Amino acid sequence: MATQQVDHPGPVTPGDDPPRPGRIPVVDNTLSMLRDPLAFYDRVGAMDADVVGYNVAGTTGYFVTHPDLVEQILVTDEGSYEKGALLQQTLGEYIGEGLFLLEGEEWKEQRTALQPAFYREKIAAYGETMTGFAAATGDGWSDGERFDVLPEMREYTLRVLGKTLLDVDIDRTAGALEPLLSALRERLDPRSLSAYVPLAVPTPTNRRVRTARANFEATLDDIIAERQAESAAEREARDDVLSLLLSLDEATMTRERLGHQLLTFLVAGHDTTALTLTYAWFLLGHHPERQQKLHDELDSVLGGADPTPEDLFELPYLDDVLTETLRLYPPAFTTFRQPTEPVTLGGYDVSPEAQLTIPQWLVHRDERWFDDPDAFRPERWTDEFEAQLPDYAYYPFGGGPRHCIGMRFARMEAKLAIATLAQRYRFETVTEPPLNLAMRITLSPTEPVDVRVHER
Ligand code: HEM
Repeated sequence: MATQQVDHPGPVTPGDDPPRPGRIPVVDNTLSMLRDPLAFYDRVGAMDADVVGYNVAGTTGYFVTHPDLVEQILVTDEGSYEKGALLQQTLGEYIGEGLFLLEGEEWKEQRTALQPAFYREKIAAYGETMTGFAAATGDGWSDGERFDVLPEMREYTLRVLGKTLLDVDIDRTAGALEPLLSALRERLDPRSLSAYVPLAVPTPTNRRVRTARANFEATLDDIIAERQAESAAEREARDDVLSLLLSLDEATMTRERLGHQLLTFLVAGHDTTALTLTYAWFLLGHHPERQQKLHDELDSVLGGADPTPEDLFELPYLDDVLTETLRLYPPAFTTFRQPTEPVTLGGYDVSPEAQLTIPQWLVHRDERWFDDPDAFRPERWTDEFEAQLPDYAYYPFGGGPRHCIGMRFARMEAKLAIATLAQRYRFETVTEPPLNLAMRITLSPTEPVDVRVHER
């Protein structure tokens, strides 16, 4: 197996243990990790080591923060790693049969079957939906209005997903989806007790999840029954993800798996993109000169017209704004893996029981790769900069065969929404930096991100 040589605070010899947070060599980090994961990550980052050991809830884990090691795990030696027990325990009962958690041949078969839903041409066809809903979101605002921007962006991304995944009446999907997603957010919040109580225990949160889940499955049953009653020509004309799933043979796509796949797309695609947009407005609002530069680009290319997917090729600054936003605030703030066999990482021996934390949050802000790493500077993303950046110093969508299947979808959706709304409004940010964040399922603000919009 390939191993990479990377910088270390000192030479590593076989049998060495990596450094750990806290002065005691083997320290239990459970409490600090549970109380404030983000502060714990930052303590690890401050150690300036490429591999850092920790112990949480009886499990040994390692943070891996050098891009070469990230690449080793996600790409070069990816066959020696799985998603791991932690993710299976937390998410398995909801989406264990979905693409995010399946492993081996089953994963490969599903990824191949689902890939056509995310082909470039297919995604481009969703462009009109994305722009249309963004315009409708903007229609609901008035000049000078102040509001928390995250719920607005959540509603937007949910509408886009409802239409592109299921192609059914928006209010009907919102009624089935929003309660389920919000119950799941609550249930999976690692700071809340509910994350550690089995679903069968009737806590208020668990009851909410179970009711919302049953409602979602019932709505799905109705939609599937309607589809089955359609003529072949009607079905042919459909362009949503559900129609692709229903066109697969029963052995590939059982009813249970279909539910897990759709829920996977909803969980993976809803909050992530809504948070990206929220962070983009926050950053643009606090950097009026950058917002102005974006307005200038939009005005000169679009001249007030709504953006199409083709227009995005002519909007490089918009692309850089999104790239820089995802660097500073990666909604998927970490990637988890567990080795399936003994491996060597940066000279350290790692056993198959170990949980590996590969944190975008730390790697994206490492000053070895990013000058003035905490600054919002879309201008840094020049071709020369990208050419010399190590491949895995930036990986908001993961990497290797398990990289995000929705990456193109998410980037297009975010850019079309920013282009549509920034043409109509200038965003003033009311919430002062620094933004208080928490590591939940995704990197989330702990307080409202208030903005005031001004008609342009
Ligand atoms: C800004 C938005 C998004 C971010 C930051 C993001 C991030 C990621 C990351 C980091 C992974 C890899 C996880 C790993 O290796 O363990 C991933 C996987 C995945 N994402 Fe996304 N994602 C986004 C949007 C979406 C959207 C819109 C969809 C679907 C509509 C989606 C569906 C998925 C699925 C199904 C996987 C699992 C792929 C597999 O294992 O084959 N994501 N995402």
